[in-house]
Amino acid sequence: MSTCTQIAAELTAPGKGILAADESIATMSSRLENAGVSPTADSRRIYRELLATTPGLSDGVSGIIFCDETLGQVFTDGRPFPQAVRELGIHAGIKVDTGAKSCPGLPGETITEGLDGLPARLARYAELGATFAKWRAVFSISGRTPSWGATVSNANGLARYAAACQEAGLVPIVEPEVLMTGAHTLADCAATTATVQAAVRQQLAALGVDLAGIVLKPNMVIEGDSCPDVSDPEQVAEATVAVLRAWPAQLAGVAFLSGGQPPERATANLAALQQHQTPWPLTFSFGRALVSPALAAWHGDDLRYRDGQSALAKHVTANSAALRRRADLQSA
Ligand code: G3H
Repeated sequence: MSTCTQIAAELTAPGKGILAADESIATMSSRLENAGVSPTADSRRIYRELLATTPGLSDGVSGIIFCDETLGQVFTDGRPFPQAVRELGIHAGIKVDTGAKSCPGLPGETITEGLDGLPARLARYAELGATFAKWRAVFSISGRTPSWGATVSNANGLARYAAACQEAGLVPIVEPEVLMTGAHTLADCAATTATVQAAVRQQLAALGVDLAGIVLKPNMVIEGDSCPDVSDPEQVAEATVAVLRAWPAQLAGVAFLSGGQPPERATANLAALQQHQTPWPLTFSFGRALVSPALAAWHGDDLRYRDGQSALAKHVTANSAALRRRADLQSA
C-alpha cells in the first residue's frame, strides 16, 4: 500500500471525519471580529489551539486542515502545530490553494489559483509535518453558470494539484464545491454536481491521479438556500449518492463539506447518507458546521475556553455517531 493510500484510509477510517479549520487570515479575522475577538495572529493561534486540544477530539476526528499561518505557529507549550496535533493522534493538513479569483473570459466566475511554485510549497509543508492537503474550487448555479470553461479549468486545476500532492507524498483532498447560494432546486444541484464531478474525474484520469490515494470533498446535493422547496435528509442522501455512483470503487473516500447548512441539518443529512451501501466511506470534512458553535461559545473569553471545546466536542460526537450507524448497519 502506498503512503497516500494508507493516509487516505486513515483519514476516512470508520467513525472519523476531518475538521476544516483552514480559513484564510482574512476570513478568520472577520469571523473573530464578529464574535467580539480582536483579530491578531495570536488570537487566531489561540482559537486553533482551542479546537485542536478539545478533549477526546481524536475519537471522531482523523485530520485537521489548517492554513499556512497556523501550520507555522506553535502551541502555547512551544510545540509546532503539526507535531502537537500528530501527538494527539490526528493528521495535520494544509490548504494549498491561494483562493478563487476572477478570470478573464469567464465574467462572474472564478478559477482557483495556487499552482505556481506548488511542488516547492508541498515539499516544505511535508517537512513541517503535513500529511495531506486541500484545494477548493467553487461553482455557482445561475441561468448561465457554471460555464463549461469554468468547469473544465477548475477541474484541471484540481487534477494538477492532486498529481503534485501525490508526487510529494501528501494526500490531496479534492474539493469541487457547488455552492448553496441561490434559488435553484435539488434537481438543479444534482445536474450541476454531476457535470462538475464528471469533469473532475476526467481530468484526474488524464493526469494519472491514483483515486485510492485521494479523498473527494464534495457538496451534498441540496437545494439552494433561497429555494422554497426544502428537501428532507432522505431526499438529500438519495440524490447525493445517485451522483456519486459514477465514481469507481477504488476512490479512498468521500468527506462532505457542510457548505453553510445549519450544523444540525448537516449532521442529519450525513446520518441519512449512511443508510446507503456504497463502495467508499462517506464521512464529513465540515468547517462551519463544527467550528461556528465553538467560536460562538468561546468568543475570546478565557473563562469560556472549555465551553468552546465542549461545543466542538458535542458536534463532533454527533457526526461521529452518525457515521457509526453505517458500521452498525454493515455488521447487522
Ligand atoms: O473549504 C471549505 C471548508 O473546507 C469546508 O467548509 O463545511 O463550512 O463548507 P464548510
